[in-house]
Amino acid sequence: MALLTVEVCAGTSCHLLGNQAIIEALESLPVSWQKQIRLGYRSCLGSCGRGPCVTIGKQVIEQASPEKVLTVIKQRLTAVNVEKEVG
Ligand code: FES
Repeated sequence: MALLTVEVCAGTSCHLLGNQAIIEALESLPVSWQKQIRLGYRSCLGSCGRGPCVTIGKQVIEQASPEKVLTVIKQRLTAVNVEKEVG
């Protein structure tokens, strides 16, 4: 069951600013991570000048890079998994 929704902006500006590297990084994640993520795509998030943009849950990450996105995903999954163990 997916614990986290990750959506990459697939708008033209974000495409031109490098969203493909983020998509490739997300599609290359270990299977154990992929099982916990629902990966999707969005149309323009309204921050075209600060792209590429990615949403992780309700958080919008502007000027995203693969490293930045993977760091936030790791933090969020760790927090969710700790909550599951505790709660
Ligand atoms: S195209 Fe991605 S925020 Fe507009």
